[in-house]
Amino acid sequence: MKIVENVADAFEACMNLTHPVGLVPTMGYLHKGHLALIRQAVKENGSVVVSIFVNPIQFGPDEDFIVYPRDVCNDLKLLKNESVDVVFMPTVEEMYPKGYDTWVYAEQLESTLEGKHRPVHFKGVSTVVTKLFNLVRPSRAYFGQKDYQQLILINQMVIDLNMAVGIVMVPTIRESDGLAVSSRNILMSKEERDASTIVYRALSTGLMLWGNGEYRTNILIPEMLNILSQEPLVTSIDYLNIVDSTTMEDLADATKNGIVLVAAWVGNTRIVDNILLRS
Ligand code: PAF
Repeated sequence: MKIVENVADAFEACMNLTHPVGLVPTMGYLHKGHLALIRQAVKENGSVVVSIFVNPIQFGPDEDFIVYPRDVCNDLKLLKNESVDVVFMPTVEEMYPKGYDTWVYAEQLESTLEGKHRPVHFKGVSTVVTKLFNLVRPSRAYFGQKDYQQLILINQMVIDLNMAVGIVMVPTIRESDGLAVSSRNILMSKEERDASTIVYRALSTGLMLWGNGEYRTNILIPEMLNILSQEPLVTSIDYLNIVDSTTMEDLADATKNGIVLVAAWVGNTRIVDNILLRS
């Protein structure tokens, strides 16, 4: 496993890899969700590159960039067991040197839902992912279903900018009580962690009602909001919408292709999750 920290070395290391090349972009603090992405990438490609970079430009000024969990030693230890060929872990200065001035953004997709609540977020994500694609030149890149809007936006970016990269969605990995695995889960207190399971319970109830034939979103959404509101540690709900899982447009009737997307605060931690309305 080759570890590279600067752009020139990354470019060179990725030039001689066995094709196809799979890329797993991460912000580190690796967990079993990341390992699922990496294992799928290993299965489907001749080589695998993992990037570890807490990307400052995707955090707003009041967001958690400083406290975002980091543990590079443990990350490298985990990666050594995973048949990864290259780990790219650049510094901020390496990715955004003085004078950096170019951005990539998606006009519609980044203005709704997550984008509405985190105005700079997706511009930062699409910019860093473009840079990683240019450096690594992967055949496929792997993203978790948990950040569903991110995945759809990157997929749209790849189509719009004619990038020759296949975007692969890997299903969300959950703890045994249903909470979606996320690096930020460590930031919760024990009480908040216990309370956080309400998010998946609300989503599962939505899916259960949908499975019983209730497709009207003006019934499904209040049912799920009602469950969330029963937990006192849910301090605020940024959004809970049912949208078309391709266009991300709100649905009045979720007969087909729907997905429930939610972002809710449990104490000071924001839980983002979703569930596809499929049988
Ligand atoms: O999902 C993430 O961890 C990040 O948004 C990504 C895709 C690595 C870009 O920084």
